[in-house]
Amino acid sequence: MSCLLLTSSFTTTTHSKPNTFKTRTNKNRGLRVSCNKTPTNDDNQIILPETQKLIMPNVVDRRDLLVGLGGLCTAGNLSSLSSALAIPISTPDDITSKCQDASIKSKGDIKRTLKCCPPSLGKTVKPFEFPKGETVRMRWPAHEGTNEQVDKYKKAIQAMRALPDDHPHSFKQQASIHCAYCNGGYTQVVGNGFPDIKIDVHNSWLFFPFHRWYLYFYERILGKLIDDPTFALPYWNWDDPSGMQIPKMFLFDENENNPLYDDFRDKRHQPPQLVNLALKPNQDKDLSNDQEKCNLFTVYRDLVSNANNEIDFFGGKYVAGAGPNDPKPSTGSVERSSHTAVHLWVGDSSLPNREDMGNFYSAGYDPLFYVHHANVDRMWKLWKDLRPGENVEPTDNDWLNASYVFYDENQDVVRVYNKDSVDIRKLKFDYAKSDINKVAWRKSRPRRRDTNEQAPSLPVVKSVNEETFPVKLDKILKYRVTRPKRTNDQKAADCKELLSINGIKYRGDKFVKFDVFVNDKVNTKDDKLPTPCDPEYAGGFAQVPHCESVMFMVSAARFGLDELLEDTNTKGEEYVVVALVPRTGTEDLTVGEIKIELCPVV
Ligand code: C2O
Repeated sequence: MSCLLLTSSFTTTTHSKPNTFKTRTNKNRGLRVSCNKTPTNDDNQIILPETQKLIMPNVVDRRDLLVGLGGLCTAGNLSSLSSALAIPISTPDDITSKCQDASIKSKGDIKRTLKCCPPSLGKTVKPFEFPKGETVRMRWPAHEGTNEQVDKYKKAIQAMRALPDDHPHSFKQQASIHCAYCNGGYTQVVGNGFPDIKIDVHNSWLFFPFHRWYLYFYERILGKLIDDPTFALPYWNWDDPSGMQIPKMFLFDENENNPLYDDFRDKRHQPPQLVNLALKPNQDKDLSNDQEKCNLFTVYRDLVSNANNEIDFFGGKYVAGAGPNDPKPSTGSVERSSHTAVHLWVGDSSLPNREDMGNFYSAGYDPLFYVHHANVDRMWKLWKDLRPGENVEPTDNDWLNASYVFYDENQDVVRVYNKDSVDIRKLKFDYAKSDINKVAWRKSRPRRRDTNEQAPSLPVVKSVNEETFPVKLDKILKYRVTRPKRTNDQKAADCKELLSINGIKYRGDKFVKFDVFVNDKVNTKDDKLPTPCDPEYAGGFAQVPHCESVMFMVSAARFGLDELLEDTNTKGEEYVVVALVPRTGTEDLTVGEIKIELCPVV
């Protein structure tokens, strides 16, 4: 168990379970302080940086922290403990000297540098201020840009490329931000907190806010470079049939040295190929023309059926002290699906590290990365618009107060918090052509199975209770999983039935993908597996290679079952048949648990 569960067990009473106080034995934890030190010993105090003062008392007794984290010592003072434990992830104030070279486990040539730390201009960190009196920057669909928009955008990128490498606004430095935050540039120092544990902004609830801030400054820097305070980024509108190809302006052009072109891309995936949002196998061989429809299903799953609450959408709780080997609750629905698919589809699969987009250390070197992420960010807005007031950001302080440090457009160093990222009107940007009632995928729920095509009953397979977990995903795994019975107060429509795949342990340096099908082979007419275009597809779990120093990473994924069971005509069954289908990089992947939950507490 990670310390985040411990946090809630101290600060709330309802979730208090005795087994949350288990002793930790994880050696990656970076806590090596003995319990016997005297209270006055300086080693026991965590000194927080200036900018953290609002969140926590400046000095926290490290031994209290230890009690909560490991149950190693006797809990003396629970009230100081509860405040001590609330440590959101924070980038150190000094982003240069506290940064270390990134690392990847390369299987060959490295195309980009691993020296990803930002330059120092000797400035101290400033608090963030919302822009005042500005017009809203209206981000536009990349395939529909006017000549003027495209020209401006190219000029801005050209100007960025022309800056010297050690300028904080240079193309290289902007790309390096991603590398530093994703490939181990920063550790969870927060004073002397967890200097051995690296920060990772992926596979957790930091994913959306971190990337929103990253683009926020990137866009403002580009605007400044061409002296245009209204400059707005394009977004790659891959969720619309008209925008599913790589937008034309990013392609190679022999008449022009196109600043938007990047050579490290998969040459097979030029227009007219459509992006493959579920990484459907054999896209290149499959001549059937259902890619477009299938993509819309994927976006629908990512934003609707698999995104019923903030944890499903944003990803699981991640706070200081949680290392890459600790089980994280889950990776968000968009992140592990369409987001990852676009990275891998664009990156050059003929290179061992799939530069640029196919590896986190290099992704920022392709201008497409930022327009892809603008659309990912737009998904956040659209998800909120789907159910206003219900689809909302986490309200946990550990989410609200997580923070990062960026160079802004004035070359000042600014600390920004998740809590300030939620309202894009205050950040003065928005998305054109993004009316939630007009988006193409809004009604793209997969078509219901024709009952005539179905076998009368589900196939008989092993029960999940007969398996010894963790189990290796080196072949297709199929289990019967019993569904919890709904009590009367769980009948409500907002009590969702969720399939959780927990303890997914995988090689962080590999491109990893597996698919999850529920009640497949209901269609018994042929012996083929269903595809991501079928209603039996619950979703996928895909990972961009990025991690290095730890071989294995752990995550989890949650899938909504309500619509799926309806669409496969299996709503009345007592159990479901879950199939995990390995696709890529799963040779040493293991799964720790498969279960179905009703209206899980988030
Ligand atoms: Cu930081 Cu698309 O990843």
